[in-house]
Amino acid sequence: MDHFLYRDGILHAEDVAIPEIAAAVGTPFYVYSTATLTRHFRLFDEALAGLDHLVCYAMKANSNQAVLRLMASLGAGVDVVSGGEYRRAKAAGFTGDRIVFSGVGKTAEEMELSLTGGIRQFNVESEPEMELLSEVASRLGVVAPITIRVNPDVDAKTHEKIATGKSENKFGIPISRAREVYAHAASLPGLEVIGIDVHIGSQLTDLEPFELAYTKVAELTRELRVDGHDIRRLDLGGGLGIPYERSNKAPPLPMEYGEVIKRTVGDLGCEIEIEPGRLIAGNSGILVSSVIYVKSGEGRDFLILDAAMNDLIRPAMYGAWHDIVPVKEAPAGTELHPIDVVGPVCETGDTFTRQRPLPPMVSGDLVAFRSAGAYGAVMASEYNTRPLIPEVLVHGHQFAVIRSRPTFDEIINRDTIPQWLEGSA
Ligand code: LLP
Repeated sequence: MDHFLYRDGILHAEDVAIPEIAAAVGTPFYVYSTATLTRHFRLFDEALAGLDHLVCYAMKANSNQAVLRLMASLGAGVDVVSGGEYRRAKAAGFTGDRIVFSGVGKTAEEMELSLTGGIRQFNVESEPEMELLSEVASRLGVVAPITIRVNPDVDAKTHEKIATGKSENKFGIPISRAREVYAHAASLPGLEVIGIDVHIGSQLTDLEPFELAYTKVAELTRELRVDGHDIRRLDLGGGLGIPYERSNKAPPLPMEYGEVIKRTVGDLGCEIEIEPGRLIAGNSGILVSSVIYVKSGEGRDFLILDAAMNDLIRPAMYGAWHDIVPVKEAPAGTELHPIDVVGPVCETGDTFTRQRPLPPMVSGDLVAFRSAGAYGAVMASEYNTRPLIPEVLVHGHQFAVIRSRPTFDEIINRDTIPQWLEGSA
């Protein structure tokens, strides 16, 4: 459920009419709903009720400072994967004890930054990383709390580019070597082993892979305890999928996912962490764009929008589906016509969808891409010198620009001319 609904035939974000925002900020733009973000965080929090737990919002999905501030205010923890994200978390008000650091390539600088600024734990992904982290922590005179990410070799049945839990993926250590690697970690002076981390992929629409992975984690917990490790925290992922295509069967609910966690690892007495990104932010945001032209081609028509692949790359990158709706609702009974929806960027990959049945539209009409709150703005670029588009947050009747559109001068002036080219034009 989200808070982007038609009222009197006009799409609203909570109580704000989308055309009102479009008039204020210009198109294209992203708009997020506070109510939906809040609701989705709480669904996870409630799904784990009864367990000692922390929902750590994976900010890679949407790291706008206002979204982070909202998450912090709700009591979330946060999952970061770079020094930049760590800094964002601190700037939004997360204390170190609510920041988890994930990722396969943490650098010494990032380790030092978080060891000095405060960290809940590092999810360590390899032996060289373990050794470096121990060295950095020892040099600083502290001990780094760690989990080790195990790769359970489970097929998450998701898009190949976002599956992370198969043995051929770059993530974690093979679960078959876990006991040996944990022994190694325990021997390093700068580390304190506190738990196990697992993550099998994103946009999972089936609970079975979670069940398989977490069952393996439960077995491993028991084995590692026998080996003398004090395993007291489990960081569990895979990201639960969202209904991108509303006409399809809906993916499982957070509550059902919570049941899987309780069934598989609930009796171990461990603190449970989860790291959802997409389910919290995805359906909490839409991308609003204007029609520039409707062009008739040979045998097909094109809806040319002012949004492009640089603003929302998911269709070009993963062949992802986003529902596209007119901001002004088509009257009941309107005949739909198949049309290719494209952006102005000079490559054929800049196609959001082909032959999508849509109501007739004309230049200037507004359209909205649904489910664009996660991996939308964060993956945008300025390809074709198209400025990053504004982000807007709605709260009831209010809305605020939470990231403004840069000016062209700002974009151009980020580049500098080397001295030997000065005066040459
Ligand atoms: N934790 C870890 C270690 C992850 O690798 C990810 C996602 C998450 C948490 C959050 O997963 P979520 O709840 O969002 O599924 N750009 C792609 C998605 C990449 C996800 C990568 N890792 C997309 O647009 O579909």
